Amino acid sequence: MNSNFFELAANRRSIRKFTGETVDEKDVEEIVKTALLAPSSWGGHPVEFVVIKDKKKIRDIAACKAMGAGPLSSADVAIVVLVNKKNLELWIEDGAIASAYLLLAAEERGIGACWIHIRDRMGKRKSADEEIRDILGVPNNYTVLNCVALGQKKEHKAPRSESKLHLENIHYEQFESKKK
Ligand SMILES: Cc1cc2nc3c(=O)[nH]c(=O)nc-3n(C[C@H](O)[C@H](O)[C@H](O)COP(=O)(O)O)c2cc1C
Repeated sequence: MNSNFFELAANRRSIRKFTGETVDEKDVEEIVKTALLAPSSWGGHPVEFVVIKDKKKIRDIAACKAMGAGPLSSADVAIVVLVNKKNLELWIEDGAIASAYLLLAAEERGIGACWIHIRDRMGKRKSADEEIRDILGVPNNYTVLNCVALGQKKEHKAPRSESKLHLENIHYEQFESKKK
């Protein structure tokens, strides 16, 4: 497909191993600014980010989730995605689309990224969300949807190939019909 955006989306893969080298502060800032452009329900902009570079704090955040937080252990930066749930019904969607922007903006700069899920996951004593909010001093009306681990790539994954797309998931006009 002749599209720069398709290529970017195909190249984006979850990177879970990082070299330990730093990610430029300007890149981090631009990645987060890009996520502020994401659409939000009612244009409410309820998604906020805590950018963490302190390695001990990143490890403490990772320890709040029993399984699947491994990529944070070698990340240079953790971005904690918070959604202000006040008066908002569609907070999960708002947080998820902003997170997708983070992942794509990282890939555009050649920076590795991985979504670390937090919502509805258990921590050591209470929910992972509550434990992370305790560490970061986040008020109760926010929920941590996820974190995004960022770092220089130590693993290189093949781009998703156009020939392997699940084209059967696309329906035209009616559920049963496929493109002729
Ligand atoms: C909602 C959601 C939750 C995810 N949670 C985690 C997670 O907690 N830990 C992790 O290592 N990867 C997590 N991932 C990354 C997926 O495992 C990954 O996107 C999937 O395996 C497809 O691989 P790809 O991103 O390389 O295309 C999550 C992705 C999404 C969209």
